[in-house]
Amino acid sequence: MTTGRGLILAVETSCDDTCVAIVDRRGEMLANVISSQGIHDRYGGVVPEIASRHHLRLLGPALAQALADAAVSLDDVELVAATQGPGLVAALLVGFSAAKALAASRRLAFAPVDHLHGHVAASWLEPDPFEPPFLALLASGGHTLLADVRGHDWESVRVLGQTLDDAAGEAFDKGARMLGLGYPGGPALQRLAAGGDPHAYDFPTARRLTGLDFSFAGLKTALLYKLRDLGEVEAERRRADLAASYQRAIVEALTIRVRRGLERTGHARLAVGGGVAANGPLRESIAALGTELDIPPRELCTDNAAMIASAARFTRPLEFPHYLQQDVYATGERQLQAA
Ligand code: KG4
Ligand code: ZN
Repeated sequence: MTTGRGLILAVETSCDDTCVAIVDRRGEMLANVISSQGIHDRYGGVVPEIASRHHLRLLGPALAQALADAAVSLDDVELVAATQGPGLVAALLVGFSAAKALAASRRLAFAPVDHLHGHVAASWLEPDPFEPPFLALLASGGHTLLADVRGHDWESVRVLGQTLDDAAGEAFDKGARMLGLGYPGGPALQRLAAGGDPHAYDFPTARRLTGLDFSFAGLKTALLYKLRDLGEVEAERRRADLAASYQRAIVEALTIRVRRGLERTGHARLAVGGGVAANGPLRESIAALGTELDIPPRELCTDNAAMIASAARFTRPLEFPHYLQQDVYATGERQLQAA
């Protein structure tokens, strides 16, 4: 069954990006196509039904683009992989079903990959792989968690803590919206904050949580109350200070838990992923911890299929036809590696 170049073709459609990548067994990327739908901004967030319809339209062209970018054909593909969950079910179903069908039509093996395993595996791609063991911080619009990464397979990745409510990116987006900024709010809030005083206001960092879990709901409410107390005119005048103080609270909440995570695991190495990893003050704050640090390039930090292919290298593949009855999952139940 091993054909041509033994390549892995991966599909990721857990949220609003339609992604197809081609990666070889060593983790070298031949193609990494990310089709951003760009239609959710007007709704202030991702609408699942709209996302899934766009995945249907974009997946075929994304696949063709990936094959063209890599200058290979489907005959060169040995293994097909796709994100199984967690994510939006309607969105996951499109990519997962298409990938299974593609594998089945060629009697290829298929690897169902957990999305979070994928984010961690982004660090293992060439040309500069950052190998386990390490502590991983993932902070995006959809998830915020710390993981102890002891090896390459999903069984060796242990989630130490995660958000009890909003994700860090969501906290940025919601705060930005309250301050009258557009979606996604993170970059806009960072820009506004650059002209403000981060110590103007003391927003909460969920200190009462002494473990490794995160919580951003209280912070969001604190900003809401502060805006109300200040009144429209004063709030408008202090917008940059509010943004800077709000950002400081998120950065501190993340940094405190990373420091704790490093202490508790004994790791001296840290990988950071997710869209929030683009945040300047967060990068500075984490760099100041003095650990050996890996932050993959932005296109590998945000949702992409190359990271799914990377994780597939360390996932036991299912032979045809044993994957046909595999289904997607919405929430973070650890995928049982089906035998
Ligand atoms: O990983 P990602 O692209 O996709 C999702 O999981 O949705 O993360 C997007 C999130 C958004 O919430 C966005 O506001 C945030 O990452 N983000 C940032 C910055 N750039 C993107 N947050 C803070 N500062 C940034 N510079
Ligand atoms: Zn993600």
